[in-house]
Amino acid sequence: MVNLILFGPPGSGKGTQAKKLVEKYGLLHISTGDLFRYEMGNDTPLGKKAKSFIEKGELVPDEVTIGMLRNKVEANPEVPGYIFDGFPRTIAQSQVLDELMNEKNTSISTLLMLEVPDVEIINRILERGKTSGRADDLDENIIQNRIDVYKNETTPVFDYYEAQQKADKIDGVGSIEEIFDRLSTKVEERM
Ligand code: C5P
Ligand code: MG
Repeated sequence: MVNLILFGPPGSGKGTQAKKLVEKYGLLHISTGDLFRYEMGNDTPLGKKAKSFIEKGELVPDEVTIGMLRNKVEANPEVPGYIFDGFPRTIAQSQVLDELMNEKNTSISTLLMLEVPDVEIINRILERGKTSGRADDLDENIIQNRIDVYKNETTPVFDYYEAQQKADKIDGVGSIEEIFDRLSTKVEERM
């Protein structure tokens, strides 16, 4: 199996690139943000719990996010590998993910971080907000909070996987195809 973590700030292109990686390598794409939006759209108890955090650009508590992720992985056991997009976002989530992979006799192959400067991120998200239907893409204060949360709470995840010699940085500025080529090269080194 090859199990990837697509890492990087909000608006760095994780979702866009994950779709292309799925086409090329046949992996299962698991976006916790998309899962939350599906739950919110259906007004489920989980969606209701997540909504108040997502509206402010804050992290949903670990136990909620981890439970949802675990269900998704366990519902899809027979896949050639997973692409985790937007997860893990805390060290606790990283530890659980490693345990979960271990239970399946596999492990995370690599974490790839898309690096994009703040100004570009804000512009990209505001542009996406015109069509994404996401309230958290429309308000510059919420976007800034998401960036701050990423820097303060999520970047330690990079160090956690770097300590396992699994983390790599990728220039996330350029055309979608250029960035995809950079990612594919790194993925194939780990296959
Ligand atoms: O990954 P994405 O940017 O789509 O996530 C949207 C929102 O969902 C985040 O800003 C955050 O509020 C919430 N989220 C979370 N924990 C995750 C993934 C998403 O709290 N692991
Ligand atoms: Mg996304």
